[in-house]
Amino acid sequence: MKVTVVGAGAVGASCAEYIAIKNFASEVVLLDIKEGYAEGKAMDLMQCASLNGFDTKITGVTNDYSKTAGSDICVITSGIPRKPGMTREELIGINAGIVKAVSSSLLEHSPNMVLIVVSNPMDTMTYLAHKTLDMPKHKIIGMGGALDSARFKYRLAEAMEAPISDIDGMVVGGHSDTGMVPLISHATRNSIKVSEFLTKDRLEQVAADTKVGGATLTKLLGTSAWYAPGAAVSGLVQAIACDQKKMFPCSTFLEGEYGLNDICIGVPVILGKNGIEKIVDIPLSDAEKAHMQASAEGVKKTNGLLDV
Ligand code: 2OP
Repeated sequence: MKVTVVGAGAVGASCAEYIAIKNFASEVVLLDIKEGYAEGKAMDLMQCASLNGFDTKITGVTNDYSKTAGSDICVITSGIPRKPGMTREELIGINAGIVKAVSSSLLEHSPNMVLIVVSNPMDTMTYLAHKTLDMPKHKIIGMGGALDSARFKYRLAEAMEAPISDIDGMVVGGHSDTGMVPLISHATRNSIKVSEFLTKDRLEQVAADTKVGGATLTKLLGTSAWYAPGAAVSGLVQAIACDQKKMFPCSTFLEGEYGLNDICIGVPVILGKNGIEKIVDIPLSDAEKAHMQASAEGVKKTNGLLDV
């Protein structure tokens, strides 16, 4: 199993690190445009192998796509990250050009790849990949919901003073401060609805904190987060590589599901060796349905800025 991660910045390197630590891939190629940078990160990570007990071989390359040839899964993290006060949507101008160029170079060398898009604004970058690459729709996946759901569970656990392993919950919709739809009606603590433990006001606060999860970290760190984004990507990569048939909310191209068309947005999907094996249609409350529609309108507005 060969995995390529483009972008050796904080998110890309964390992603390579978590993939390696989980020890399911034979090879990870880390590619960056900055001379020597991916090579340095790869060497540093490989020097963790004996310490952390993994056998995955991590190779760093400077912009040489021939070294990515034959990858089963490719991840695009390249592009500029958010600065404090910026929205993900403001990154579109620069990142669209980068994602377009990177994704076509990847496809040229790995025609059978499953592509995971992480660059922001992620739903729009996933849509761009759909519109510009000659690839089946189930092989193009946007990573946002897995991360937002992890942040939702963190906030729920915090509010309930419960261990995170007790909590289950999912965030669908667009990966943006206003677009995320935390599915409170479906969230549970050991199968008991969270509304049994928390007041409506407290749950609304949990949802609000979840939605600005990325912005909160950007303010604290001066740039966007990387540990949880890297861990979330590694979870998707593992589900595909190991044909786990696990369910994650991912951005995928919709053709009527959830009443939406011609858009990539976060919905629950089953991930296995073919990428997205199934889109799971779950019942939403009326409020969640309305929120999902508004979220889709926001994503479509950003898609409208693309030159496709
Ligand atoms: C985040 O939410 C990087 O968009 C990513 O942290």
